[in-house]
Amino acid sequence: MRNRMLKLMSLFAALALVASACGGSSGGDAGDESGSDSTAVGSDDTTDDTTDDTTDDTTDDTTDEETAGGSVEVFSWWTGGGEAAGLDAMIEVFGSTDPGITFENSAVAGGAGTNARAVLASRLQAGDPPDSWQGHAGQELIGTYVAADQIEPLNFLYDEQGWLDVMPETLIPLISKDGNIYSVPVNIHRANVLWSNPTVLSDAGIEMPTSLDEFIAAMETLKSGGMDAPLAMGEQWTSLHLMETIMLASMGPDSWNGLWDGSVAWDSAEVTKALEDYNTVLGYTNSDSSSLSWQDAGQLVLDGNAAFNIMGDWQEGFFRELGKEPGTDYVWSATPGSDGVFQFLSDSFVLAKGAPNRDAAIAWLTVAGSNQGQDAFNPVKGSIPARNDADRSLYGEYLLSAMDDWASNTVVGSLTHGVVANDSWKSEIDSAVGLFLIDKDVANLQTALVAAHAANG
Ligand code: GAL
Repeated sequence: MRNRMLKLMSLFAALALVASACGGSSGGDAGDESGSDSTAVGSDDTTDDTTDDTTDDTTDDTTDEETAGGSVEVFSWWTGGGEAAGLDAMIEVFGSTDPGITFENSAVAGGAGTNARAVLASRLQAGDPPDSWQGHAGQELIGTYVAADQIEPLNFLYDEQGWLDVMPETLIPLISKDGNIYSVPVNIHRANVLWSNPTVLSDAGIEMPTSLDEFIAAMETLKSGGMDAPLAMGEQWTSLHLMETIMLASMGPDSWNGLWDGSVAWDSAEVTKALEDYNTVLGYTNSDSSSLSWQDAGQLVLDGNAAFNIMGDWQEGFFRELGKEPGTDYVWSATPGSDGVFQFLSDSFVLAKGAPNRDAAIAWLTVAGSNQGQDAFNPVKGSIPARNDADRSLYGEYLLSAMDDWASNTVVGSLTHGVVANDSWKSEIDSAVGLFLIDKDVANLQTALVAAHAANG
């Protein structure tokens, strides 16, 4: 299939900057709030006259003569702080495998896709899809894009590329419906990670906490020693992220799973306890959180202005991009109380139904699912490859530990990052958390969570 792209006439490789960064969180992405550089790899913006390809055997259902065209529009929220660098590394691979296709980077700034997904939703509603976009494996994909019939099955590509042999068995059901596989996972991220500044800890005579009680005691010590906010937090989605990791630690993996499969009641005492724990932990966070990005919160830890941050392991991609050293500038552990549990999420790319540049999008997806693409992307992004045949020598100390944990831990899904609940359920929970951040009333929060389950579960 790639030969079709390669035979193109693009002799004039160029760089193009096409990023469209819309908005950004109020704090902005610390790394780059102006959107990722968009590289036109082996660009050819004169290739609308791309010739037909008689050898194309993967897209026989393509009815038109436009074929691959000269470009592919890829939509994500990776615009800074380690994320853009990871994407750029994969774009570079795409440039070498498909030099005839211009990569149009439509990344929209804002952690966890809060802004990007709103832009995407309006484009989809307007019938103007990007060729391919970033979507989380799990309910975000199945309960949103598949349910709305917005993406194409990719079984033909899995067959062609032999991906069923190298992608984790646990992941395939999360991106499938009725035997159809709907996306190409590029990575596995871990959500339940505690990041810390080792100098702050040793100055205060504190060890990395391993239980919620130890965590709270450590923050109490730091607070009485004069540190106002030992736990750095950012804008609202990072508080939802904090909530789910504390709930997991408080309830354990079986009960966490039970919330999503209906076997554990949202009005149960264990949920009350978990929300009280969340409330207690929130008491140690910074008062300006709503104006900070996740990178800003990580920076507070690096600078020694906070001791801890609970964030997915993209935080390490950010730390490394800043040139920080694992073990010296930062240390990590599972969120206290969740050791042995890997709360995961997976970024994947989809093929839009009606993609304007379908063949070029398939070429992009081929790279996204390839060993070469994943081993370029993940060491920089701060995630481990979805594929199980990574070259371990390319990965740093943290990511090697994540690979081992992914292989040996109990695996559960993330709420904030699309695994366990579809968009409508998640957005009701998010609204409840927004109110809770103002009133701090655990009973009100639990009532709202019960109602969100009743409406969506
Ligand atoms: C997650 C996404 C990660 C990372 C993070 C912060 O939802 O899966 O790849 O981008 O948001 O932006």
